[in-house]
Amino acid sequence: MAKIVGILTTSHVPALGKAIHLNLQQDPYWKPFFDGFPAIREWLDRVKPDIVVSCYNDHGLNFFLDKQPTFAIGTAPEYVSEDEGWGIPTMPSFPGAEDLSWHIRDSLVRDDFDMVTCQEMLVDHAFTLPMALLWPEQKWPVKSVPVCVNTVLFPLPSARRCYRLGEAIGRAIAAFPEDAKVLVIGSGGLSHQLEGERAGFINKDFDLKFMDSMVNDPTWATQFSDVDLVEQTGNEGVELLNWLVARGTVPGAVKVVHSNFHIPISNTAAATMLFEPV
Ligand code: DHB
Ligand code: FE
Repeated sequence: MAKIVGILTTSHVPALGKAIHLNLQQDPYWKPFFDGFPAIREWLDRVKPDIVVSCYNDHGLNFFLDKQPTFAIGTAPEYVSEDEGWGIPTMPSFPGAEDLSWHIRDSLVRDDFDMVTCQEMLVDHAFTLPMALLWPEQKWPVKSVPVCVNTVLFPLPSARRCYRLGEAIGRAIAAFPEDAKVLVIGSGGLSHQLEGERAGFINKDFDLKFMDSMVNDPTWATQFSDVDLVEQTGNEGVELLNWLVARGTVPGAVKVVHSNFHIPISNTAAATMLFEPV
């Protein structure tokens, strides 16, 4: 049987890709963020997940405003990285966990989630950066299932619905008949706003409360509407919805393996957390 062995939530600031490319992990600006990862990589070496289910948002690469699904899932044999900007090399493509993808997709549709099924899907920094942070040598020892959440075109799926999507993904994984250790990723956030009058907005108090709720009260953030979340976390801080999907996959108690919070990386309050189901 498939089993969720951990949940990893992390920011996905594109400039991290450039820092990785230029090997700046020990540079004073980047170190406080990258220092979150050695402990996580020790955990990975020990636990050795087989499959990653990555909950993230596309930033206009695979879906643009002309066609923007609220929720989408990849069922492809591989996912090509075509990240935007920065002039950095793209990463090797990511093998897909096709059987688990189709199984989760069927289960979600039967569970009343109208997923867009993508047999081809380009992946951007929100998918690729967490992978490169976890496996810096960029030889992926896992297969992937990308789950894409609209955090771009309003109205967004509610925080409540995102959490419930996570619960439904968790049920689907638990019912997958093959043996597999699954790591669930939630990519994005925390507070940041990249444009407009509030460009540069960061809300440390909200972020810390949200991080605490991820451990102790995972449905806390489901009280907020999309507009509330923009107010509290900034226009791009709403990417925390991906954390809620990820956390929903293990709705019970979790143990914190690692937690890191640092302001700022680029324009973002950068955070990383790793949980194990209890
Ligand atoms: C930044 C953060 C993001 O989440 C993103 O998608 C793009 C840019 C930033 O802080 O620069
Ligand atoms: Fe983003």
